[in-house]
Amino acid sequence: MSSQSIANETTSQHPGPLRLGIAGLGTVGTGTVKIIQKNAAMLAARAGRPIVVTAVSARDRQKNRDMDLSDYAWESDARALARRDDVDVFIELIGGDEGIAREAIMVALQSGKDVVTANKALLAIHGQEIAEFAEAQGRVVRFEAAVAGGIPVIKTMTGSLAANRINRVMGVMNGTCNYILTRMESAGLPYETVFEEARQLGYLEADPTLDVGGIDASHKLAILSSIAFGTRPAFDAVEIEGIERVSIDDIRRAADMGYRIKLLGVAQMTARGLEQRMSPCLVPADSPLGQLQGGTNMVVIEGDSVGQIVLRGAGAGEGPTASSVMSDVIEIARNVRIPTFGQPAARLEPAQPARTAVPAAYYMRLELQDKPGALAKIASVLGDAGISIDRMRQYGHADGSSVPVLIVTDKTTPDAIDFAIETLPKTGVIVGEPVELRIEEV
Ligand code: HSE
Repeated sequence: MSSQSIANETTSQHPGPLRLGIAGLGTVGTGTVKIIQKNAAMLAARAGRPIVVTAVSARDRQKNRDMDLSDYAWESDARALARRDDVDVFIELIGGDEGIAREAIMVALQSGKDVVTANKALLAIHGQEIAEFAEAQGRVVRFEAAVAGGIPVIKTMTGSLAANRINRVMGVMNGTCNYILTRMESAGLPYETVFEEARQLGYLEADPTLDVGGIDASHKLAILSSIAFGTRPAFDAVEIEGIERVSIDDIRRAADMGYRIKLLGVAQMTARGLEQRMSPCLVPADSPLGQLQGGTNMVVIEGDSVGQIVLRGAGAGEGPTASSVMSDVIEIARNVRIPTFGQPAARLEPAQPARTAVPAAYYMRLELQDKPGALAKIASVLGDAGISIDRMRQYGHADGSSVPVLIVTDKTTPDAIDFAIETLPKTGVIVGEPVELRIEEV
């Protein structure tokens, strides 16, 4: 068979170009258009059909985006874009868990379009409703870009690892927080100074609490939990603590003990239910998570057959996030259609949330009065709490009034740590509040 006849046959099997409507022309939207404009022939070859943009929408038509949009129809309302007859796939890059993004996605599904979105908040909070609606309409909703930017974690979990029972999934999934924590360590700067630097560099979300409060990363964790454990996304059940209380002191002391502090999300199914936590944790400095620098993300997946898989890459930014958007588009063009969270929405179990109870070692930092018997009182409280000490370090003292003491415990429960933290100030030998941080086994 000649190459010409192969080409004709291939073309005749496919229904023509896949037509995209892109709602939102910010960093990710323009990045997506750039990939399509730059790599059109390659995309068509890989997808088996041309991929074209027919229409776009954004808040501000006049904004200089440094690209030629003249071939695309313009809609000022994303819902109108979602209804257009010349759009096969509605790409939602507006963001926000309510309002226009949510409405436009529902309109698109109702109008028979498949949907690609980068909207983690929407999926973490309304994912079940959207998945059920999409499946009732016979449409797909794909969202590789919603979790960890350019890292192909959704396809890895729903595809390559689909034969595995997942024991645990965890990760550093907010690049801004990782930038702040690593910069604090490398420059020896306090949180407030580096937070301000991050703001100047444009790293922070419009509402910075989404980043530093751990909310953005928790949206991502809730999505991964759903896929990993076959449960409905349960963002409300994530125990969330941000990085605001991480001090340069703790970063330095943790480093002395061989650890780094990361905003780590962990989800695991236990006999009591689903544990999902997002909190600043210590991880060994020489572990892959401990080595993660700057705005990079990492996701670690543990499957019963495959063992541990570590994925690392850019968690945000134009190119990486648009790369993920386009991977979903290409799958739709190839007619790869999978249920939203990896199994039919009706089969997702309601998550049974459980408060974190999986034992771990803990790091504690106390400011101890420098007098005889003080340490004995601390050891006694820990003993009463059933906590065994693995390592302890007392630092020298300049003025003789108090000394920093670091304790690394053996594995213990969060309840025992809570009891100790509550009881320690009652000994009368510590100055200020004791600090505790979980040491996650990675
Ligand atoms: N604000 C996020 C981050 C990127 O810093 O990782 C978008 O999810």
